[in-house]
Amino acid sequence: MPATVIVGAQWGDEGKGKIVDLLAQDSDLVCRYQGGPNAGHTIVVGEETYKIRALPSGIVRGKPCVIGNGCVVDPEVLIGELDDFERRGHSVDDVHVSGNAHLIMPWHVAIDQASERRLGNLAIGTTRRGIGPCYADKAMRIGIRVQDVLDPKILRQKIEVALAEKNLWLERVYDAEPFDLDTVASQYESYAQRLRPFVTDTSLIVDRALRNGKAVLFEGAQATLLDLDHGTYPFVTSSNPVAANAATGVGIGPQRIDNVIGVAKAYVTRVGEGPFPSEIAGGDQKRMRELGHEYGTVTGRSRRCGWLDLVALRYAVRVNGIDRLALTKLDVLSHFPDLPVCTRYRLRDGAETADFPAHQSDFHAAEPVFETLPGWREPLDGCGSLEDLPGAARRYVEFVERELEVDVTLVGTGADRAAVLSR
Ligand code: IMP
Repeated sequence: MPATVIVGAQWGDEGKGKIVDLLAQDSDLVCRYQGGPNAGHTIVVGEETYKIRALPSGIVRGKPCVIGNGCVVDPEVLIGELDDFERRGHSVDDVHVSGNAHLIMPWHVAIDQASERRLGNLAIGTTRRGIGPCYADKAMRIGIRVQDVLDPKILRQKIEVALAEKNLWLERVYDAEPFDLDTVASQYESYAQRLRPFVTDTSLIVDRALRNGKAVLFEGAQATLLDLDHGTYPFVTSSNPVAANAATGVGIGPQRIDNVIGVAKAYVTRVGEGPFPSEIAGGDQKRMRELGHEYGTVTGRSRRCGWLDLVALRYAVRVNGIDRLALTKLDVLSHFPDLPVCTRYRLRDGAETADFPAHQSDFHAAEPVFETLPGWREPLDGCGSLEDLPGAARRYVEFVERELEVDVTLVGTGADRAAVLSR
């Protein structure tokens, strides 16, 4: 398929990086279309572990990569990753960053942190990387864009204008330290030197690739339930991870997208605050966290763990137009004798629904209705294809397919790069 979107179908951390890494083998170009260093992809290749926050995961396969206009770029993080990849012997010559992407500035990080502190109990639980304040400035039309690094005079001017307001805000509203113009300007001018060769018109690159029949992967960061419009607002990120935004986030028309692959864990995790109907009560939550190594790549925070939620997943299929599903980390479930799967929610009036509630109060009050499937004890590492899975594991996958009316075409069975089964 020439243009394929990979989208997280839950609350993030579904293992998208690994699926992108797999599909990148047969792709000519890998693009990120939204988000910033709040993302964290871990890819294990033999003895090497790559933790990527800014670059598309395709970089590990040495593929040309695009950071689209819909992304927000922390130059320090991006440069750190570029340097790290070069040090490990990878070329970064084919990395292209959209001039229209917005730059995360130090005040975005400071405001994200101060605002979370101030919200106290009502905090969103952000990654504190400045994502929300950066997208807010973009919407306010006062952001600083990647293309501003091309002209040192403009860059300094924009920093000066921004700081005049942001410092007031930091000092008077948040009781936080202001930033010094010269320090920020010289820091960003040095980033500019390094970034300049990568800045380009990425819409043109993607369009040309598609016109020439190349295979292009669009790699979503975060996930459907963290989507600013379609997620569990306000406990969401400040961009649109849903598949349709792949077009806006790189600058192509929506009809150019051929295929949408959703990535979901065989269970569910969530970082940060907000309702989570299928969250596991009791000791199994801790057990699943340990077995699945469910700790944040970016923040190191413990992830909350829950049983597979098909109501939420059915919703993800709908809002993204998912036509195929990758189910990751099935091996983690090998350790549980019984596997509850949430198939419906019970609402406040006692009615049961298979559809995700449209209103937050209904979602907050929703009780999971579980069907329990039998587990399996056999490890999955000897399986070479989906057909080799133990009977109960195969039936678990088939149950998901029947409930969602979507084919599961890939199943993750371990941390290693090769541990993905396909049909
Ligand atoms: P922000 O994106 O840092 O503003 O955080 C907003 C919400 O999205 C918080 O609940 C974060 O935990 C969550 N979030 C952001 N990025 C990721 C991710 O890559 N994986 C999982 N959760 C994320």
